[in-house]
Amino acid sequence: MDRTTPRPGLRAQLLRTKPVDQIVSEAGHGTGGPASMRRSLGLWQLTALSIGASLGTGIFVVLGESVPLAGPAVVVSFVLAGFTALLSALSYAEMAGAVPVAGSSYSYVYATVGEFAGWLCGWCLLLEYGVSVAAVAVGWGQYVADVVHAVSGLTLPAWTVQPPGSGGVVNLPAALVVVGAVLLLVRGAQESAAVNAAMVVVKLVVLALFCAVAFTAFRAGNLTPFAPLGAAGATAAASRLFFSYIGFDAASTAGEEARDPRRDLPRAIVLSLVVITAIYCLVALAAVGARRWTWFDGVEVALVDILREVTGQTWVGVVFSAGALVSIASVVLTVLYGQTRILFSMARDGLAPALFGRLDRRGVPVLNTVVVGGAVAVLAALVPLGALADATSIGSLAAFALVNVSVVVLRRTRPDLPRTFRVPLFPLTPLLGAAMCVLLALNLGTGTWIAFGAWTLVGVAVHLGYGRHRSRLAVPAPVPAREPR
Ligand code: ALA
Repeated sequence: MDRTTPRPGLRAQLLRTKPVDQIVSEAGHGTGGPASMRRSLGLWQLTALSIGASLGTGIFVVLGESVPLAGPAVVVSFVLAGFTALLSALSYAEMAGAVPVAGSSYSYVYATVGEFAGWLCGWCLLLEYGVSVAAVAVGWGQYVADVVHAVSGLTLPAWTVQPPGSGGVVNLPAALVVVGAVLLLVRGAQESAAVNAAMVVVKLVVLALFCAVAFTAFRAGNLTPFAPLGAAGATAAASRLFFSYIGFDAASTAGEEARDPRRDLPRAIVLSLVVITAIYCLVALAAVGARRWTWFDGVEVALVDILREVTGQTWVGVVFSAGALVSIASVVLTVLYGQTRILFSMARDGLAPALFGRLDRRGVPVLNTVVVGGAVAVLAALVPLGALADATSIGSLAAFALVNVSVVVLRRTRPDLPRTFRVPLFPLTPLLGAAMCVLLALNLGTGTWIAFGAWTLVGVAVHLGYGRHRSRLAVPAPVPAREPR
């Protein structure tokens, strides 16, 4: 900034917005410039990215933990959480069609509500993406232990598969799956998307297998009483199960690697959410129809146990567990991908360290991926799943609420902006979407709220002490450089 230019006041700094046209042009649309990534992803790859990021630990692990909270009404809990996700997904679709860049909700909020809210949104996305990868990797570890036990009869020593506080020292499988995802991601988005698409097919097949088997044991009597713990139980389970929908927005982090982002991003987001909701409701119905809801209490890998009991064959459970391993690994891959792209955008804006904005000569953020992956691997190795899953949900709900608000703001500030998708029933849908996010967040425990409050305070401090001075809107900086060959 010119020495003679007066410094903007704190309020102006916090509320400055980054113009949409600037965001889009910096994203290197079709320029192939030094800071651009390669546009290689089509509609199906983007849809698979969102399905890949969503279908994982939530359905394979958290479903079993949620049945005791709601009883058979867990199916309704899925619908409730899915409805909340859908309202937000429509807002994501509108924003992704209007502002198709890699930063997802962070960029949308930066362009509409302002820098401080954008930063806080990005800070929440660290929970939605960074922390959730760790949570998902921990769920992966549970399945590894189960598969090894079923195949060889061996019980892996607790110290190698459990974090401290849960009877172990380090969760090695959880850390290893993260390392595997890093190795794939550094090869490039297209390569990763191809592997992810194959993994998505595997997860659809194993969940279809589960439904086919579990429905043979369906007893209508298992569904009564339908809501033994009342509406409160169903909403509590919905809050917990919201975790299983997180990731539908992953396609929006590929805004700079999509071939036709304005057309394909909104479609991919809505399509993936419809597919995911249908699958969740079917799997949940099959599970609670096959076993009484009280049976689920304390069962670690409920879906596998149902398959084993219904068929009387161990191998069916092993095949399913192996499929679950592939499925959950794809969540790790895609969510880690999303986190690196969000940090890339934040670094380009000066709000995160420049190393996250560096691209190698192929346009891949290698250093970013290695640093993010390293941090997530450590988290996954040392922290238990439950604590991580709730932290993830509250962070995501906050980010989704902000995206709903940003749709309303952008319609007012930039009514002229071309939009390839418009939220129906505006402004009711985004406002209801924001309200539903707050409602589900209120159901999460006090401990989660305290942790979230502390997390937000740290975020505020980081922005006041770092981001607001480094912001490119304050100090025009050169575009991110390529890594040396
Ligand atoms: N939705 C993702 C999962 O359930 C985070 O694993």
